[in-house]
Amino acid sequence: MAERKSNIIIEESEAIRQKNIIKALREEFDKAYEKTGKKKLFFIQTYGCQMNARDSEKLKGILEEIGYVETDQEEKADFIIYNTCTVRENANQKVYGRVGHLKSLKKKKNNLMIALCGCMMQEDTVIDTIKKSYNHVDIIFGTHNIYKLAELIKAKLETKDMIIDIWEAHKEIVEDLPSIRKHKFKASVNIMYGCNNFCSYCIVPYVRGRERSRAPEDILSEIKALVADGVVEIMLLGQNVNSYGQTLDQSFTFANLLEALEDIEGLERIRFMTSHPKDLSDDLIKVMGQSKKICNQLHLPLQSGSTKILNEMNRKYTKEDYLELVKKIKAARPDIALTTDIIVGFPGETKEDFEETLEVVKAVEYINAYTFIYSKRTGTPAAKIKEQLPESVVKERFNQLIDTLQPFVERHSQEKVGKTYKVLIEEVNQQEKELVSGRLSSNHLVHLKGDKSLIGKIIDVKITSAMTFYLRGEQV
Ligand code: SAH
Ligand code: SF4
Ligand code: F3S
Repeated sequence: MAERKSNIIIEESEAIRQKNIIKALREEFDKAYEKTGKKKLFFIQTYGCQMNARDSEKLKGILEEIGYVETDQEEKADFIIYNTCTVRENANQKVYGRVGHLKSLKKKKNNLMIALCGCMMQEDTVIDTIKKSYNHVDIIFGTHNIYKLAELIKAKLETKDMIIDIWEAHKEIVEDLPSIRKHKFKASVNIMYGCNNFCSYCIVPYVRGRERSRAPEDILSEIKALVADGVVEIMLLGQNVNSYGQTLDQSFTFANLLEALEDIEGLERIRFMTSHPKDLSDDLIKVMGQSKKICNQLHLPLQSGSTKILNEMNRKYTKEDYLELVKKIKAARPDIALTTDIIVGFPGETKEDFEETLEVVKAVEYINAYTFIYSKRTGTPAAKIKEQLPESVVKERFNQLIDTLQPFVERHSQEKVGKTYKVLIEEVNQQEKELVSGRLSSNHLVHLKGDKSLIGKIIDVKITSAMTFYLRGEQV
């Protein structure tokens, strides 16, 4: 076992063990392919945030290495896996609904294997429900052991029983296993795992475990390898990237990490999420102000504009702190595109509290916002608060919030018309094949005439018009 400078223990022998299991399965799959001439297909559905999306890239990497081929037609798959999210109740309901439907498919297809993983599986009540009502599921695992997928598949092939492997916490982090990224030119990189903030409404710390930062040298070497492989844009992932480094033995902050990344030749764009306002340092603002690579976008979750509610949410900043922070960021990066998350209907939220949220929305002028209706999560402190709000009040506030945000969203898009921006071209447009789609540094989506030769390139695009959800432009 090799212990690094970080608190993360990288179990190299475990990675080798997993690779051997993958190899053995691969041999069996190849033999079956020789006989049948048919590759086995897998279907993966990912719910939730970018953490889950990144985990799914790792799951896909393992499945492809075993010999499965991805399909987007669930009914054709031999292996179906749902990587679940439990941040709000409706996320769970969706999963139960889909898993229920799989029962008839499983009856028709003898060898179909169904696996469930991700955040929802870290909850005991969920496991009980699946055992009781969804016993057609074959494999269940959680957020801490996704690297074991091949071993779990092997175990299932040897038994009729449901395989359940849920860990309470991280025992080890196994890296250096295969992973598949969607785009050749951009990639997501975990810089930390877990969360220590315990916002009172949030289940994430319970299902993702304590905060652990990866060693800077590991992150840097991963990113250098990605850049050598054609990546020009990276997204750094963590539940609170601003507290990166706190669990390291050495003194190394998120600002230090960004400075180190700035020097990587060939890396053009850096994005990151999520930034908790309480930990966004002046050093970070300075680095953002000087950087040529950090994108002109910052996701800064507000959650509520009322200091009283923020306090109940355990967010550890006030309305004034937040506004002051925005002022400092805008001074360092005047064109910054700010986005946010807002929860409507937190227990005890009064009309006045909500109006303070609207006030902040108007003051900050977000270019976009993710708005959520408060969802009671069993086991979180907020679930114990008696004063839950009536649905009708919450719905009305929610609509009012959208109406307040919308003019700013539209104005920010309109302001781009007639100007020229650098755009990273990502793909040929699905609906109109003569168009390609790309992203501005601000993360605005733009469609323009072009072909697949532009994919992965950063080109100058003049914006010609603005629609509700996207821009149109032309290459200049
Ligand atoms: N770590 C990130 C957020 C991860 S969850 C951060 O702190 O910003 C993404 C968003 O889901 C949160 O920002 C919050 O707005 C929302 N959310 C989390 N728990 C919720 C709940 N119980 N009900 C409604 N929205 C919730
Ligand atoms: Fe949840 Fe708060 Fe952690 Fe974000 S910072 S994941 S909202 S507990
Ligand atoms: Fe959901 Fe887990 Fe992300 S609960 S929001 S997928 S960390």
